[in-house]
Amino acid sequence: MSYNAQSMKTVLTQQEIYGLVAGDLVRVEDELKVYTRSSIEPISEIGRYLIDAGGKRVRPALLLLTARMLGGISDSTIRLAAVMEFIHNATLVHDDVIDGSDTRRGRPSANANWGNAMTVLAGDWLYMESFAVALGERNFDVLNTLIGITQKMVEGELLQLTLVGRKDVGDKHLLDIARRKTAHLFSGCMRLPAIVADGDPDSVEKLTRIGMNLGMSFQLVDDLLDLTSTKEAMGKPVASDLKEGKVTLPVYYALEQGTAEDRRMVELVLEERDFRSVKPEDILELVERADGVKRTRVLAADFARQAIRELETFPPTPYRDAIISIPEFIINRQM
Ligand code: IPE
Ligand code: IPE
Ligand code: MG
Ligand code: MG
Repeated sequence: MSYNAQSMKTVLTQQEIYGLVAGDLVRVEDELKVYTRSSIEPISEIGRYLIDAGGKRVRPALLLLTARMLGGISDSTIRLAAVMEFIHNATLVHDDVIDGSDTRRGRPSANANWGNAMTVLAGDWLYMESFAVALGERNFDVLNTLIGITQKMVEGELLQLTLVGRKDVGDKHLLDIARRKTAHLFSGCMRLPAIVADGDPDSVEKLTRIGMNLGMSFQLVDDLLDLTSTKEAMGKPVASDLKEGKVTLPVYYALEQGTAEDRRMVELVLEERDFRSVKPEDILELVERADGVKRTRVLAADFARQAIRELETFPPTPYRDAIISIPEFIINRQM
């Protein structure tokens, strides 16, 4: 725990945040293991492989903290936390096929091990398993939320694909993509516990907004880390977005503010789909010169601040304070 003089708040560390739901998360892991059971070997193998590799488990942690902030958890909460992590894992296996990524969570990606065809089908199965579990809740609001989130994620990935290789992408487009592919899932992690707790419509919507803002901040930082971090820290390839033909927000700022020479360098990577004539360090240098890193961090912090402001309207509990501390962890994370 530490005191942030600027915000006059007590900020919980990552360990303290996760510590509050450590027991719940153990139960979530047990659920996840059950969901990967299939008599078809590649499915159980691929599912298990990804789950066993770990990951931050930030989505189930957020869902559990929200449920506890709202009054407590039930078996249903544990299942829904596992469902959200499971859907997230399904998107990761598909995303790595789409991006042609060879590493995930510090290991060869599923597509690197099993090939694209098997990985896509296993991803489909994981999605369906998530829905089958959620169906057990017998709650149309829950199902509706999950279907909406999944459609948004697919739309986000598709929109991103339509813009591959283009340098004339607007910041509105980039934020829209981030919202669909990542923020909606985060928003669901706060919406579902509110629905299950029979929250009034206003607080359901408020929690949905808070989760959305946390998710926006999370994806913007992910885009920054692709430029500034290392493969070892992230457990997945870095300097890969631009090489894959994707302009992200920090690079957008560089295209907007940079010199003609800067723009040419970005274009070269987009054309060559590789860091051949231009090196990742060159891109980071020109992005920093255009304040792209700083501006993206400021925007990520703005989304986080909006989330915090609305969180402060809930009665103070350790769970609320833990969620209020999540932005600090999101923004300063190294992985
Ligand atoms: C990766 O999510 C995909 C994005 C939305 C950026 P995480 O960074 O939460 O990945 P894991 O679950 O910790 O591996
Ligand atoms: C993250 O997209 C959103 C998903 C739907 C997985 P990214 O392509 O940025 O995710 P990473 O960087 O591969 O984890
Ligand atoms: Mg990717
Ligand atoms: Mg990324």
